[in-house]
Amino acid sequence: MDTRPIGVFDSGLGGLTAVRQLRRLLPGEDIVYFGDTGRVPYGPRGRDTIVQYARQDVHFLLSRNVKFIMAACGTVSSTYPLEEAARLPVPYTGVIGAASRAAADATRNGCIGVIGTPATIRSGSYAAQLRQLVPGVRIVAKACPMFVPLVENGYVNDGNPVTRLIIEEYLTQVRDAGIDTLILGCTHYPLLKKMIGDFMGDSVTLIDPGKLTAIATARALEDLGLASGRRDGGTVRFFVSDTPEGFDEQERLFMGDCAGGDVEQIAIENY
Ligand code: DGL
Repeated sequence: MDTRPIGVFDSGLGGLTAVRQLRRLLPGEDIVYFGDTGRVPYGPRGRDTIVQYARQDVHFLLSRNVKFIMAACGTVSSTYPLEEAARLPVPYTGVIGAASRAAADATRNGCIGVIGTPATIRSGSYAAQLRQLVPGVRIVAKACPMFVPLVENGYVNDGNPVTRLIIEEYLTQVRDAGIDTLILGCTHYPLLKKMIGDFMGDSVTLIDPGKLTAIATARALEDLGLASGRRDGGTVRFFVSDTPEGFDEQERLFMGDCAGGDVEQIAIENY
């Protein structure tokens, strides 16, 4: 039994798609979430900057006495060195492994699409995992840099003409390549799932990394003896690096009926 909180972080609010799932699966666990809203997006930045930001995010969560850290961010998961993560005083997971395993299980024709931020696609992180899991896999990868600003600015309503146009611009080539599975390789993208799904068609299975990593985390906590043992009453504390003004509205967008919890601004550059 371990009643310390689970630590979750993202460059912004996309990681809340994972928190939403954690709340559903583990209503008795406390969660500390950090969203680096003052420095989002990470995806267009260089590797060294992303690693430095990720280190500060991890140090902040460790200062909150977390028992487990989830990088609910495709960009950090693709960039923060796993050797460094393995030396942390608590277990750490990114989102690449769980999403790649689900895609490997889902594909029938061995042709998988991966979309993500420029840093995620450049890193080849999903492709490397998929090659190990699916012999002869064909991967169609595409960076979609404008999806994160669209989501952070609320352009997520079904049929939004601006978003629909950008989906068409980025995904026409991916769709026409004959994939049967598409990894939404950034935790912001599930907010565009309906529109992406409509564009890709019913024959393409969409993989949501935050959701799958939450499921894997619930299992890991149990296996590692880190579960709280509580069935309900868990809380979420949110920390952001920009003003919390307007946070409630955005939280509702990402968390739906699982929204609720205190929010506080911190100076992440001090960690
Ligand atoms: N949610 C982050 C990810 O999964 C967004 C990346 C960004 O900040 O550009 O990659």
